[in-house]
Amino acid sequence: MSSSQSPVKPRLAASERLQNVPPYALARVFQNRDEKLRQGVDVIDLGVGNPDVRPPQVALDALQAALLDPKVQNHRYPSFNGLPEFRAAVAAWYARRFGVSVDAEREAVALVGSKEGIAKFFLAHLNPGDTILLCTPCYPAYLGVAALAQVRVIEVPLDPANAFRPNLGAILEDEAGRAKVLFLNYPNNPTGGTETAELYDEILAFARRHDLFVVSDIAYCDLPLDPEYRARSFLQHDRDKERTLEFHSFSKSYSMQGWRLGFAVGNQEIVANLTRIKSNMDFGVFMAIQRAGLAVLNGPQTYCAEAAKLYRARGEALLSAISPLGYPVSRPKATLYLWLPMPRRFATSLDFAGELLDKTGVVVSPGSGFGQAGEGYVRVALCVDEARCREAGERMVKAGFHW
Ligand SMILES: Cc1ncc(COP(=O)(O)O)c(C=O)c1O
Repeated sequence: MSSSQSPVKPRLAASERLQNVPPYALARVFQNRDEKLRQGVDVIDLGVGNPDVRPPQVALDALQAALLDPKVQNHRYPSFNGLPEFRAAVAAWYARRFGVSVDAEREAVALVGSKEGIAKFFLAHLNPGDTILLCTPCYPAYLGVAALAQVRVIEVPLDPANAFRPNLGAILEDEAGRAKVLFLNYPNNPTGGTETAELYDEILAFARRHDLFVVSDIAYCDLPLDPEYRARSFLQHDRDKERTLEFHSFSKSYSMQGWRLGFAVGNQEIVANLTRIKSNMDFGVFMAIQRAGLAVLNGPQTYCAEAAKLYRARGEALLSAISPLGYPVSRPKATLYLWLPMPRRFATSLDFAGELLDKTGVVVSPGSGFGQAGEGYVRVALCVDEARCREAGERMVKAGFHW
């Protein structure tokens, strides 16, 4: 082809499924951040929940031992559902942590990070046009994968006046009747909201009444910023695993997000479906990483409490720095986030995040990226050290970002 000819455009294009996915809501903020970095601005990035803490030593040691093991077994293809020893460690952890008994053979599956499992849960169980109930604000990947799966999402708003818990009574009967799945995430990203035993009892009764399956995501269950708070598992309520699948992750509590390790536990038919779809799409988790993960689960759990202490101190540093600005914000009981209501003079959280970045170099995530109920807020991820968190707050004060 000569250079004057226009290139031939292949017939191949994005599938309808992919076209259905809206542009990533936070992409614009990250583009702006990268532009500032290119300009040499001293950016404080509180945009992404990307822990900056060293993973547990036990994980590093176990990974190294598994890598260097003279037997090459760890380097071969893993099984689709995870090493039996990994699943046994998950079951033992559930028994110790929540008093829930798990059949390691049939009710647990290892995941290449929980995001992977959540996406495959959708593809394995929901058809285009199916309806789900999704508590929002939520982890944005739920919205993306719901669009990819061409599923209809009914957002169930988490009520700030009720500690970011949903009002089930406000869900229309016919919507609840049509929905197949209810998605929950406590402790909640992005609001830091937490569950109660009564709420979980109420949700289970609601799910039974409407024949809903419950997906519970407990990615932040071991990052209690309030030392009195101890997160529950939904399986403490649905002990027979009649209608629950619970996802967990090594990314937040153990700062192992780059390792890509998580697991799901729950109803055995749903676990089997997840394993079946995985066997057609991926090859399970690198066995050396599973060995590190099981060493973490079987080891002392002091790491999470230390990490939580660190995030709490960072949150306090930022909140006390901005106290002259008058934000009506409550201390979250868990997670590594602050959920700040935007100043009243802004029309959208995207506008606020944009101006904040321009004037202070501080990156936060606009709440609109977390679902409709997120508008009016921004999420602050406490993934820089305490001094930088304080400095972010001080920059906001200096630039006059009053609530
Ligand atoms: C609520 C929630 N679930 C799941 C994930 C994904 O975690 P993983 O790294 O295990 O895929 C995240 C990541 O931010 C999250 O916030």
